[in-house]
Amino acid sequence: MTTPAHVAIIMDGNGRWAKARGLPRLAGHRAGVEALRKTVRAAPGLGISYLTVYAFSSENWSRPKSEVSDLMGLLKLFIRRDLAELHQNGVRVRIIGDKAGLQPDIRDLLDEAEQLTLHNRSLTLVIAFNYGGRDEIVRAARKLAAAVASGEIDSDAITAERFAGALDTADIPDPELVIRTSGELRLSNFLLWQAAYAELVFLPCYWPDFSREHLADALRDFAGRERRFGGLAPQNVAL
Ligand code: IPE
Ligand code: IPE
Ligand code: MG
Repeated sequence: MTTPAHVAIIMDGNGRWAKARGLPRLAGHRAGVEALRKTVRAAPGLGISYLTVYAFSSENWSRPKSEVSDLMGLLKLFIRRDLAELHQNGVRVRIIGDKAGLQPDIRDLLDEAEQLTLHNRSLTLVIAFNYGGRDEIVRAARKLAAAVASGEIDSDAITAERFAGALDTADIPDPELVIRTSGELRLSNFLLWQAAYAELVFLPCYWPDFSREHLADALRDFAGRERRFGGLAPQNVAL
């Protein structure tokens, strides 16, 4: 079976999961963290090398202050509680998104997680936090524009490959598979550049209900897809 090296997940539906149970949204987010733990534990055994999770988007700031603060708190709790276990299990933590827009204590915690786990190799867990695809592309364009302005590079030298190198995901391969839970059929500003040729799997289940079985099913679905990258399927290429 062809297994994608990089799977990216839009962890959506925490609020609706909670609502369906008559619970506050925070309870849904807490259950979502538990689903994330299980998924991270399952990923290496399923042959996944990179797992990217969308945890907080650059548009999620528009939610009520109390929910934003709950989500910031949960991230801090997750890093504090799970960092030792992640490190022990050989997980390398990487953050993508605009760190500069986060509170200093969160930034420090994220830096610490990245530094501590830098040389781990069993799984790279990429956490997209304060992440938006458009924001990432704009920041990359600014970096390149500054390099051109200072004469460091020539604008003709900017290729798609070079541009990708200026993104937050510089040394991370593109995701071959993007999964979204909760039944919504959209990307919501997730990995706009990197997902150009990703296979998409949309699942009706809410994120807190996501399990190893859902992940294994999505991988089977992926294995059955024919990926052409704009070319032709092998059987259609004239010999
Ligand atoms: C995903 O669940 C978590 C974040 C976006 C932070 P939601 O909070 O979006 O849950 P729904 O979509 O309202 O059910
Ligand atoms: C996407 O979910 C962001 C995360 C999962 C972190 P949203 O719930 O924010 O997306 P929309 O608003 O339904 O598009
Ligand atoms: Mg949502």
